[in-house]
Amino acid sequence: MLPLLKDIISRHYATDLNKQADALFKLLESPKQAGHGHLSLPVFAWAKEHRKAPPVLAQEIAAQLSVRKPAGLEKIQAVSGFVNFTFENRFVQDLLSAEILKKRGHVGYAETGKGKKLVIDFASPNVAKPMHVGHLRASVIGQCLVNLARSQGYEVTGLNHLGDWGVQFGKLAWAYTKWGSEYPFKEKPFESLFQLYVRFHDEAEKNPELEAEGSKMFKKLEEGDAEIEKLWKMFVEISLKDYQRIWDMLGIKHDLVRGESFYNDRMKPVEQELKAKGLLEESDGAMIVRLGDDMAPCLIRKADGASLYATRDLASALYRMNELKADLNLYVVGVDQTLHFRQVFKVLELMGYPWVNKLHHIAFGMYRFKDAKLSTRKGHTIFLEDVFSRAIELVKEIIAKKNPDLANPDEVAKQVGIGAIVFNDLVNDRVKNVDFDWDRALDFEGDSGPYVQYCGVRCASLVRRYGKPVAETFQLDLTTPEEQELMRSLLNYQDTLRNAFENFKPHILAGYLIEVCHRFGQFYNKCRILGESDEIQAARMTLVQMVHVILEEGLRTLSIELPEAM
Ligand code: ARG
Repeated sequence: MLPLLKDIISRHYATDLNKQADALFKLLESPKQAGHGHLSLPVFAWAKEHRKAPPVLAQEIAAQLSVRKPAGLEKIQAVSGFVNFTFENRFVQDLLSAEILKKRGHVGYAETGKGKKLVIDFASPNVAKPMHVGHLRASVIGQCLVNLARSQGYEVTGLNHLGDWGVQFGKLAWAYTKWGSEYPFKEKPFESLFQLYVRFHDEAEKNPELEAEGSKMFKKLEEGDAEIEKLWKMFVEISLKDYQRIWDMLGIKHDLVRGESFYNDRMKPVEQELKAKGLLEESDGAMIVRLGDDMAPCLIRKADGASLYATRDLASALYRMNELKADLNLYVVGVDQTLHFRQVFKVLELMGYPWVNKLHHIAFGMYRFKDAKLSTRKGHTIFLEDVFSRAIELVKEIIAKKNPDLANPDEVAKQVGIGAIVFNDLVNDRVKNVDFDWDRALDFEGDSGPYVQYCGVRCASLVRRYGKPVAETFQLDLTTPEEQELMRSLLNYQDTLRNAFENFKPHILAGYLIEVCHRFGQFYNKCRILGESDEIQAARMTLVQMVHVILEEGLRTLSIELPEAM
């Protein structure tokens, strides 16, 4: 799409402009204003070099380049300090239909990441507690970045750094040994596990000695007690299975689970290396690495000998870079862990690893969820599953009003309800906090998931009503301003994917899809389709079909399904 047009211009004019084609490619922009063509070349920097006013230089260049135009280019015009390139309508339309309709399933994909390995740590919860709304962001942002990275050609390993180690397992083992037989572990394993967890904490409030019992059990586990290890394994398995059930609803899939326990025997070597490099220091019985004046020291081992979250992250970074051979290593984790990652990255830098700049903390803001009905039901924790159920229930009510004859309301309510929650998250710049609000998330006319899905569904329904196969090529130029604007948006899809990935920001894609829908709305209001002449109908249907594909693939990249009807 747009990069193809940039390619044509930069190759064709590189020598005329005395530039490398690559450099020229990077200078080309997509003009904001309609009527300014498809590409724009700012000449401000050159004007300075040549001591000329930018508009004068732009005029000169436009005149010079117009003499020798590549096929498909209609005109070159100077507008203040820019040289604008406008391609012929049909040329752009043919390019769009070839790139969108003939490459379904991987529209806009690029090969920038080809041959490179990307490890992305996302949705890494701590075991034994049900998933609550706080887990949503790390899951959906992470999965979207996985999808975006794949669109750029990276070999991606989505990794679950499961919180599967710690004193809570000692507590659970103690509780299981004592009360386990009272719970239906066979039929309802996860619920039973959670009940045990809650019961232990309730009892421990009355009887603080239980804490010590839990710690004792954990110590045994750390020493390799086979019986307790068997229980631990069972708890982890039960939890993972339940998490996957929730993740399935969100389209989330890891490629590899490397929980914290995986690093149990990899921490001693880290400590030894730190010592050998003269970085380790003792402080009140604990082992630390000092990180200078502007950052608190990184705690490597507690005075009681217990290892720490940070130590495991040092070991895990070494594992990902040295053994998984990552070229890029991302951590999709809340902004509250910023200091933690700064410390870990700093220690690795002090250890002399040149690859620290390949590690990025992809931070996201807090999720504030206001819903009196959900929060009173179960104390302060709002379970993700309850949020989904409520969303589905609300969408069912809307469907019953809007489209009572829908064939598969349950399935659609699921796609729309869950999609609404996911989209509402991804449409915000990830670093900002999200205030969740049902009305906004489910507003079919606002900038919401259902709005984008509804637009896609309208396209699909037009195709059905058209009743003939939609042509994959154009026999006619589409020239109304609305058609032109809509096609300008479609041209930007490929750059949007790249941009969203390079900045690690899903909202760039979500915002783009909203824009396509707005433009589609304007087109749909102004341009009649069914009832026009056969040629116009055919050409407009090809445009509609392209919008449908872009919305479907864009939503899929956000891990949201597009229903056929709603
Ligand atoms: N389990 C952690 C938590 O729930 C997140 C882990 C993130 N990944 C990492 N390598 N530290 O807060």
